[in-house]
Amino acid sequence: MKQFNEPIYVTRPYKPQKEKLFKYLEQVLDSRYYTNFGPLHNLLEERLRQYLGVKHVILTANGTLALQIAYKALNVKKKAISTPFTFIATVSSLIWEGIEPVLADIDPHTFTLDPDKIEKNIDSDVTAIVPVHVFGNPAPVEEIEYLGKEYSIPIIYDAAHTFGVNYRGKSLSSYGNISILSFHATKLFNTLEGGAIVTNNDSIVDTVKAMRNFGITDSQTGEIKTIGINAKMNEFEAAMGLAVLDDMEYIISTLRKNYNIYKELLSDYLEFQVIRDHTDYNYMYVPVLFPDEESVMRVKNELNKHDIYPRRYFYPSLDTISFIKSLCKCEISRRIASTILCLPNYVGLEEDTIVYISDIIKNTLKDIKK
Ligand SMILES: Cc1ncc(COP(=O)(O)O)c(C=O)c1O
Repeated sequence: MKQFNEPIYVTRPYKPQKEKLFKYLEQVLDSRYYTNFGPLHNLLEERLRQYLGVKHVILTANGTLALQIAYKALNVKKKAISTPFTFIATVSSLIWEGIEPVLADIDPHTFTLDPDKIEKNIDSDVTAIVPVHVFGNPAPVEEIEYLGKEYSIPIIYDAAHTFGVNYRGKSLSSYGNISILSFHATKLFNTLEGGAIVTNNDSIVDTVKAMRNFGITDSQTGEIKTIGINAKMNEFEAAMGLAVLDDMEYIISTLRKNYNIYKELLSDYLEFQVIRDHTDYNYMYVPVLFPDEESVMRVKNELNKHDIYPRRYFYPSLDTISFIKSLCKCEISRRIASTILCLPNYVGLEEDTIVYISDIIKNTLKDIKK
């Protein structure tokens, strides 16, 4: 059995150059400007705006608060259509805001919402569509945009996984009325905790900015015109973001290399997510589908014995969660959720570890067949 220096988790936060990060942190400490839209926060907003090629990036404390602010800013009420195959935050944030999630089933190959099933669920109480670009794979944005226009309902993309993904030559986060990003430590681009609201719509920017700062519209006069919450990103988090941002090309190319090794070794044995055409992908996640749940559990247990910890991500399908009252018994999402595993992928994962992981998977599958 191979001995690793430390457990192999599904991901590992990226460590930027220490000197660069420490320089920023020194600047923060010396200035005593720790939060409330300091110079590093503002610099990061501007650099992300340029990196993503969008009109507005509004940093937040995390992706969940970005979702909640997006719903409020676009006046989402009553019901919103979303997906059962996502991280719980997409849907629980709706419920938290008093909005009933209407779950529609997904496509079995891309894992993103099926536009026909979205349309079947649209009624006069539906005030938004909240699709997810699952594992960074674009949702069918053209069809969804058509539905949004046809029924005059806004689109809020949960784009938590999409950093660095371009679709048809532009950032995936530039689609929809709003896209939200997560910069949690485990994400491709991270600020420890953090997130952003991305929009090209000038008319909502002031409201969104006020909402992340208790509703204060003018910090000089203290004027408050809207309800708000505390969703500010602090200077330490912004420092981390600035230090990581310079390395994006290196991070994505490393993840791409790892992903392709897995694909070469395992695509005869397992199904990989189908990435939509015209996508420059970020290769952050390596989700693979097994023939059945028993194989997932056998492989997972075998890998765990070797100190390797893939994740059942996303599991369970959200239509099975007790507090989410879903009318949809979303069969495709349930099948994908019960047969999926995300394999380890991060900067620093050795090629021979990927080969080792793949061998364990192949051997376990062979044993199951016997
Ligand atoms: C799809 C999805 N949406 C939303 C979130 C919430 O983001 P955060 O952890 O930054 O609040 C996550 C984060 O893990 C996510 O994976």
